[in-house]
Amino acid sequence: MPAKSFKRTLVTSALPYTNGPVHIGHLAGAYLPADMYVRYLRLQGRDVVYVCGSDEYGAAILMQAREEKVAPQDIIDRYHPMIRDSFAKTGISFDNYSRTSLEIHTQTSQEFFQKLSEKKQFVMKREEHLYDPSAKIFLADRFVRGTCPFCGYENAYGDQCEKCGASLSPLEIKNPRSTLTDAIPELRPTTHWYLPLGKWQPQLEAYIANHSDWKPNILGQIGSWFTEGLRDRAITRDVPWGVPVPKEAADAAGVAATGKVIYVWFDAPIGYISSTREWAAKKGDPERWKRYWQDEESRLIHFIGKDNIVFHALMFPAMLMAHGEYIVPDQVPANEFLNIQGSKLSTSRGWAVWLHEYLDDFPPDLLRYVLATILPESKDSDFSWSEFQARVNNELADILGNFVNRALTFAQREFDNKVPALSAPSDADKTALAELRKFPIQIGDAYERFRFREAVHLTMNVARLGNKFFNDQAPWVTRKTDRSQCANTIHISLQICAALAVLMDPVLPFSADKLRSMLGLKGIRASTPDCDPASGIGWTEAASPLLQAGHALGRKEILFQKITNDMIESQIEKLESVEDAEPDTSYADPKSTIVYDDFTKMDLRVGRIISAEQVPKSKRLLKLQVDIGYEVRQILSGVAEHFSTEDMVGRSVVIVANLASRKMMGLESQGMLLMAEDREGKLKLVTSESESGSVVC
Ligand code: 2FM
Ligand code: ZN
Repeated sequence: MPAKSFKRTLVTSALPYTNGPVHIGHLAGAYLPADMYVRYLRLQGRDVVYVCGSDEYGAAILMQAREEKVAPQDIIDRYHPMIRDSFAKTGISFDNYSRTSLEIHTQTSQEFFQKLSEKKQFVMKREEHLYDPSAKIFLADRFVRGTCPFCGYENAYGDQCEKCGASLSPLEIKNPRSTLTDAIPELRPTTHWYLPLGKWQPQLEAYIANHSDWKPNILGQIGSWFTEGLRDRAITRDVPWGVPVPKEAADAAGVAATGKVIYVWFDAPIGYISSTREWAAKKGDPERWKRYWQDEESRLIHFIGKDNIVFHALMFPAMLMAHGEYIVPDQVPANEFLNIQGSKLSTSRGWAVWLHEYLDDFPPDLLRYVLATILPESKDSDFSWSEFQARVNNELADILGNFVNRALTFAQREFDNKVPALSAPSDADKTALAELRKFPIQIGDAYERFRFREAVHLTMNVARLGNKFFNDQAPWVTRKTDRSQCANTIHISLQICAALAVLMDPVLPFSADKLRSMLGLKGIRASTPDCDPASGIGWTEAASPLLQAGHALGRKEILFQKITNDMIESQIEKLESVEDAEPDTSYADPKSTIVYDDFTKMDLRVGRIISAEQVPKSKRLLKLQVDIGYEVRQILSGVAEHFSTEDMVGRSVVIVANLASRKMMGLESQGMLLMAEDREGKLKLVTSESESGSVVC
């Protein structure tokens, strides 16, 4: 529980930009942990509202629309429903999912802006800005590219250098070019509204000092912003896409409002307020949103990814303080990034697992579970398909699914599919029940502390407790030797299943539902937005025995199907075969230093390719037979889109000969061909004039 006790909680997840589908990195960052938390709170019977929506303004959307020669509205109308539906299918249980292009958002943002304008909270600045004379547009943020003044990278954006991470302003960029027309920009004067963040630094420092329980990654970032000193932030732009600056504010400032819009990072967090307003209106109680935003007894929590920290921990709180009628965020559980198969996720290169594509192939709970176990809570983490398979098969299926299946199968065969009575429980029985009773508090405590990985691990420990108890009690023996002990074992095992059907709900809501119906368990409070917090059996009672003796169980099903190698291989294949939509032409990042011994571990050999053929049903894989002098190796290489089979046969190449063999598309690969990849992603064979079998050293 937070130090202060609150009456109600408003939870938000970062509003996703509406210029593409969402991927599993998004899910692991701001949505899955928030949803788990909210479901937990609902099961606790707490008053919680969870809002989100599509972030539909900003340079990225405008740029994409220009590239595709369509209107920005077409882009957002394409992606908003797609994102909303993917979240719904994944069980992300928003009370409201809105969009910032709605009138209610324009109105809310303009009212907010106007209030700050009336309270003289802005500073006006007339300055020279970059202007593209052929597109007739000022070049803010990503509309300009040029050379980074810090590291010399030639393709840095106007607001940030992707190479060295420096935060930039368009005027700092050397040799600027318009990303719209490639024109060399000229300087033109223009007037903008600034939020004087520097003025708020003392209040913000006091506010952050009051929140020393925030995660170290957030406090660290904020600390460096404070050390650097907060600067005024321009919060308007001269672009044709965004919430228009309210006319009254423009008139008061003596500036023509035409063409001026509110900066997307000013209106987007206000999107949380408009989404809550929309929710309240839909509930038929239009003023109800105020309870969550303007009452000191409400707790505001923003779930975000680490790239959004400054906006949620400094800028939005400063905006809310400047307004004066709002509460400020009490927690900002920001996650780090999720890598995919060891490489940084990159949407432009297509190196991502898209949520809607995942959902075509697998049930949502499997992803929810696996991501929850590897959430980048304190540092970047990695998603790999092999780990996905291992966790689904070894944990969900073999631990959780198997336990439930054993308990239910026994009840069906031995006790007429009913819960047998518990009579004269042994010490072991009592210990198991006592252990079970501790879990709601233990797991709940992890949720309260925003330790989601720990919460999931503890949840799985409930199933581990069940398996151990079942094994130790050996009901397959006692069914013949001690019928009453056998009944006790099954009774307690079923109680553990019932507890699981509640405790696993935040992470595995679909499977929890299925388990409840397998157990015929009714009257459990829902964890969905429409739940009634005052009714049903909730979190605290989850481990009090929930099933009565004689209760009729439901129909048994398999809770988790195992993932086969083929399923995983086709996912890896899909990932690796994506077209390089926008090739990154920078040099690959240098790898960290290794010692000589690391290098000598590799057995690099010259080998002659004696045959090559395309692997059936694979666009990418070639099957090669490579003579390495003392033997012939079969090697599968994902280069079919770069080389024909004729290109390969007869070439003397370099292979890693001691790489553990692995299976791809059902075929064994006994080594790996070395390739040189240039800056455009083109591959060349690494060849040698030496005889086959020669050691490359
Ligand atoms: O980074 C992003 O995807 C932003 N669209 C997040 C906005 S969060 C909030 F402020 F709305
Ligand atoms: Zn740089």
